[in-house]
Amino acid sequence: MDALYEQALETFNALLEQARQSQDPEPTAMTVATVGRDGRPAARTVLLKTVDARGFVFFTNFNSRKGRQLAANPQAALLFHWKHLQEGVQVKIEGTVEPVSAEEADAYFSVRPRGSQIGAWASLQSEPLASRELFEQRVSDVESRYEGMDVPRPPHWSGFRIVPERIEFWYGARFRLHERQCYERVDGVWCLGMLYP
Ligand SMILES: Cc1cc2nc3c(=O)[nH]c(=O)nc-3n(C[C@H](O)[C@H](O)[C@H](O)COP(=O)(O)O)c2cc1C
Repeated sequence: MDALYEQALETFNALLEQARQSQDPEPTAMTVATVGRDGRPAARTVLLKTVDARGFVFFTNFNSRKGRQLAANPQAALLFHWKHLQEGVQVKIEGTVEPVSAEEADAYFSVRPRGSQIGAWASLQSEPLASRELFEQRVSDVESRYEGMDVPRPPHWSGFRIVPERIEFWYGARFRLHERQCYERVDGVWCLGMLYP
């Protein structure tokens, strides 16, 4: 692995570990920004599930708005903001997106709580919902369908991996003299530079 990329991932993992030890109630929460065919950006929070040299993974419904946008335009930006770390730390990641393998999705789905597995079948994520009762009915239908057996992974539920092209660490500092370190892959080679705050 490229030494600078390795360094960026080590820095990310060290900060995530510090965030886990801090007061942060959701240290793995990240904003995911996507842009579909219409060119309009959309953002939402998801949970980071794994990170390694291949990239940053979250799981979702592939028929959701984000899923459809990523199918049309497999590019995303991720944003972590750890408010309780140091003077505040922000990590911005940009990259191309690919689906995880079916094996990876199955492995993670199988360890999710049963309620979440049922929800993955019952929720038509991002579709209009006429009433809360309708959703509750769908949940109970799925519960009956899989009573006494393991809940299989829905075909539309899987993970996206963001393969980073750019990773920026933003460290808060007094008087807005923030420090920004930016790792970027240019022509296949990782570079490191600073940015004005
Ligand atoms: C803390 C937090 C964690 C979340 N984690 C996930 C997640 O891992 N996967 C997911 O699909 N939605 C997650 N959501 C819900 C999303 O923010 C979003 O509402 C949903 O995925 C639909 O987004 P979309 O319509 O833009 O596709 C989370 C929300 C919050 C507030």
